[in-house]
Amino acid sequence: MSFKSEINRRRTFGIISHPDAGKTTLTEKLLLFGGAIQEAGAVKSNKIKKGATSDFMEIERQRGISVATSVLAFEYNGIKINILDTPGHKDFAEDTFRTLTAVDSVIVVIDVAKGVEEQTEKLVEVCRMRNIPMIVFINKMDREGKDAFDLLDEVEQKLGLKVVPLSFPIGMGYDFKGIYNIWEKNVNLFSGDSRKDIEETIEISDLASPELDKIIGEKAATTLREEIELVDGIYPKFDKAAYLDGQIQPVFFGSALNNFGVRELLDCFVDIAPKPRAKQSEERLVQPDENKFSGFVFKIHANMDPNHRNRLAFVKIVSGEFKRNAPYLHVRSNKKVKFSSPNAFFAEKKEIVDISYPGDIVGLQDTGSFKIGDTFTEGEIINYKGVPSFSPEHFRYINNADPLKSKQLNKGIDQLMDEGVAQLFTLELNGRKVIGTVGALQYEVIQYRLEHEYGAKCTYENLNVFKACWVEPADKKSDEFKEFLRVKQRFLAKDKRNQLVFLADSQFSLQMTEQKYPNIKFHSVSEFN
Ligand code: G4P
Repeated sequence: MSFKSEINRRRTFGIISHPDAGKTTLTEKLLLFGGAIQEAGAVKSNKIKKGATSDFMEIERQRGISVATSVLAFEYNGIKINILDTPGHKDFAEDTFRTLTAVDSVIVVIDVAKGVEEQTEKLVEVCRMRNIPMIVFINKMDREGKDAFDLLDEVEQKLGLKVVPLSFPIGMGYDFKGIYNIWEKNVNLFSGDSRKDIEETIEISDLASPELDKIIGEKAATTLREEIELVDGIYPKFDKAAYLDGQIQPVFFGSALNNFGVRELLDCFVDIAPKPRAKQSEERLVQPDENKFSGFVFKIHANMDPNHRNRLAFVKIVSGEFKRNAPYLHVRSNKKVKFSSPNAFFAEKKEIVDISYPGDIVGLQDTGSFKIGDTFTEGEIINYKGVPSFSPEHFRYINNADPLKSKQLNKGIDQLMDEGVAQLFTLELNGRKVIGTVGALQYEVIQYRLEHEYGAKCTYENLNVFKACWVEPADKKSDEFKEFLRVKQRFLAKDKRNQLVFLADSQFSLQMTEQKYPNIKFHSVSEFN
């Protein structure tokens, strides 16, 4: 197969949802349809069970599972599908944000009864900012839930999307009869038998046909006709270019658990979802079909075995072919590197591959020299943008609890930060280290891993910080900026990339500072130019 056909047949995407909406179930059903797994239950949920926040064995077990499910790849009708796993637990939201830099599109799963939930809002906002094409899947239609139109309204209002229903439910919960597929113009009948794999599909090219009354009953048929008329009146027509541009979002209804609406979703997905897209680097826009390889690290996973410090760096291939044993440039260190055993990912396993294409993810062995955001090329200086850090929500001083192990502690902190477990800030005033995290759970993970993997002990001390803001002065030499540095020294720190950060202790003090220094910008994201 030619290089171009290999690119064109790849679809790399992520499934995002609030925990429990059905992401794992949907992933598993997609794999079943792709023939990549044989039975339900094969994909282990990577979610952290409620109440397990201090169970370290649970955290370790999850780490193991999340390596296995980081990338799930399978073939469907000649299309190579790569699903990138995104942790649903909110304490790992940073991880999910970063994974979103490596997807070409997403599927958003929403629970019909719960509607739009908090985690979905945050994740969709990130996708919207980046114009990532999104398809919405409204799940659990076998249960009583919200009215379809109300839910579509909620999706538009809370998520800021412009929806286009491509399927519509016939009834709901106890009365759920099936789905009218607007995209394919057919009716799928629901049997309610969860063991049944393929539901009955009946072609209905004309909704006015009396056939419909026979199949779903007169009352349901009349309601459906009225509802589809409303759909036609309210929502725009589906337009592929607008979807690819992030302007409209198609919606499907179904029940992942009952395998209902999943094939329709998958068929439409392979039809409309984007193939690998061009990516902006600091230097230029890079096209996937360029001859030379380039790619970037979006995730780093530490080895589970503490005796082998090797890590696995997940690299998304942006352009060219990635070849085993070829010399590549690690742009940040300006060093040549070769990979003798790059991993490619399949449904349940990883294997060494000789060649991979744009859209694919390769797992590269790393002994501690790679960081999230690093770029590899065939020699060109390219730095991919878009793996930003967000302001953490929790901040604590980290102290060394065993003075004889300070070297180990520093190395451990350094490597865990490279993995993106949390963010490190070093105070300008006294060089003290502050760890910022999205969730409190990370502090326990860090403490546990420092001890078990690096033999170092740490304690924490609370620090009152409302928000970390990355500082950008209009003029570094201005008196205003010099005064800011002097007056606010107590609140200033450097992040891992040596960027200046203002640790505001309250919303009020942030506002006051912004007013007092109008020529200094305070960003809540580390990447702002
Ligand atoms: P997540 O990855 O988004 O967190 O959700 P997951 O797939 O684990 O699904 C959460 C719960 O919702 C699971 O039940 C799952 O069986 C159920 N579920 C998923 N899709 C549907 C659906 O279409 N209809 C109904 N009625 N339920 C659905 P659980 O009891 O929490 O877990 P389990 O013990 O069944 O695995």
